[in-house]
Amino acid sequence: MTASVAIAKRLEGIQPSPTLAIASLAASLQQAGRSILNLSVGEPDFDTPAFVRKAAWEAMERGLTRYTSSAGTVSLREAIQTKFRTDNGLDYPVTSIVVTPGAKFALYALAQCLLNPGDRAVILAPYWVSYPDIIRLSGAECHVLETDARNRYTIDRDALDASLQPPTRLLILNSPGNPTGIHYPRSQLEAIGSIVRAHPQVLVASDDLYEKILWQGLPFLNLAMVCPDLADRCVVINGVSKSHAMTGWRIGYAAGPPTLIRSMADFQSNTVSNPNSIAQVAAEAALRGSSADVELMVKTYQARHDFLVPELNQIDGIRVQPADGTFYAFADCRTYLERNPEIDGDVGLTRALLEQTGVAVVPGSAFGAPGHLRLSYATDEKILKTAVTRLQEYFD
Ligand SMILES: Cc1ncc(COP(=O)(O)O)c(C=O)c1O
Repeated sequence: MTASVAIAKRLEGIQPSPTLAIASLAASLQQAGRSILNLSVGEPDFDTPAFVRKAAWEAMERGLTRYTSSAGTVSLREAIQTKFRTDNGLDYPVTSIVVTPGAKFALYALAQCLLNPGDRAVILAPYWVSYPDIIRLSGAECHVLETDARNRYTIDRDALDASLQPPTRLLILNSPGNPTGIHYPRSQLEAIGSIVRAHPQVLVASDDLYEKILWQGLPFLNLAMVCPDLADRCVVINGVSKSHAMTGWRIGYAAGPPTLIRSMADFQSNTVSNPNSIAQVAAEAALRGSSADVELMVKTYQARHDFLVPELNQIDGIRVQPADGTFYAFADCRTYLERNPEIDGDVGLTRALLEQTGVAVVPGSAFGAPGHLRLSYATDEKILKTAVTRLQEYFD
């Protein structure tokens, strides 16, 4: 069949996720026999904890294989309610919580239920790759505020204040952040809160997906925790994908103003119906169960971070801010690229690294930060060490 189909206008400019594009190029080079070291992937390299897998198995045996409520089962929402109380000191009725097929769909449903064409949503660069497209799919305009590694991605107050004027209806925060790995300190959240207060039409989405992947001794904070008076203007988004190595299970959740949450559940009822019933049981086990597996994973990520970041910082022309969490190192290569103008920016550098060293990374442009590279250390230490050696040889 050769007939060409006209695709809906609202999908114009929507691209497949760039991280997946690099991963598939790396996979095809690997199939062709090249030794590829993949530092591009944004998912834990660990298995889902055994007790979580067991809970899913038992759910199937118990026949929990049917549609659930579109907002998610009451027992999972109760587990989420307890998690918010215990970990965050936030008190939500179950009716203010919706379970979604991954945190990504929570963000998508939020944008669909909140934003109209003509509205504006504000994100901070470097940003997670999917935010701009999720916003644009709602018909709203995506406004990007730049932040810089050189001052640890601190938000410029005046620029934030100006960007939150009408028609802005949504501000998305992500801490610890993908790709920077930076967690906003209390002072930064207080500063954001003082600006948000002056813009009552703005709702804040706090994408807390990496909450658990924070280095030892760093307490997690979000805007609703630091500014309780703003809690009812926040939608907190989280999930088990990264914390419990459950990316494929597709369970996320959101908590916030009940009318908005109800509308997100209604939106789900007519799109995905409900998140997978078996995965919901698994997620409940993850949230209610022991945190030992999570702690072990985080310790491992931190050890890899502590190895990788100083090694990368030895490369002339590259700077990496030590992260507070996640499993990403975000390398500022602008000095190196200025000295090597024959390389076509971060995208050219990514291609050259893949072709010449077999190391797959993601160009910073995908995150709204040209001149940078994102390296994922959700990969075993042997691969990481070999990758570092190859990178140092390339840059020397
Ligand atoms: C910052 C951030 N938010 C949301 C998501 C989506 O997570 P999920 O797999 O639960 O849909 C990701 C996944 O990479 C992410 O990095």
